[in-house]
Amino acid sequence: MDEADASGPAAPPANPPAIPRRVHCGPAWMVTEGARIAVPVVPNFHFDDPDLGRVKARGLLLARRLGRLFVYANVCRHIPLTLDLGDGEVAGLESATFLCHHHGARFRIEDGRCISGPCEGESLVAIPHVVEDGELIVLLPSG
Ligand code: FES
Repeated sequence: MDEADASGPAAPPANPPAIPRRVHCGPAWMVTEGARIAVPVVPNFHFDDPDLGRVKARGLLLARRLGRLFVYANVCRHIPLTLDLGDGEVAGLESATFLCHHHGARFRIEDGRCISGPCEGESLVAIPHVVEDGELIVLLPSG
């Protein structure tokens, strides 16, 4: 058995930099042009919102529009609920928006901004992401 170093292990830094968790979501091509879908993410994640405080997100909103992929936390800005009713449905009649199925808020895909509904003017929380070798990787807040 090795003898322990008398000085012990080095203490961790007081405030280590937050390292985002990389979560593999699958092939990016599965989000086809015009798609608007809600997907669960395991594990769930939290983020800090200036208005709502610490918010738990139970999944992501994915969309592809004009070739670009958009990723948001699936948390409505009216009340911190998922936009869908548990069925993954977040599409409305318009192709350019996500629809919250609780009270009808509509969020523009391009920037997540609510353009009508009880939280008009507020925005969905964008989630950083990358596509590597055709695979979608989201960078979730740690903790
Ligand atoms: S919870 Fe989304 S519009 Fe009310």
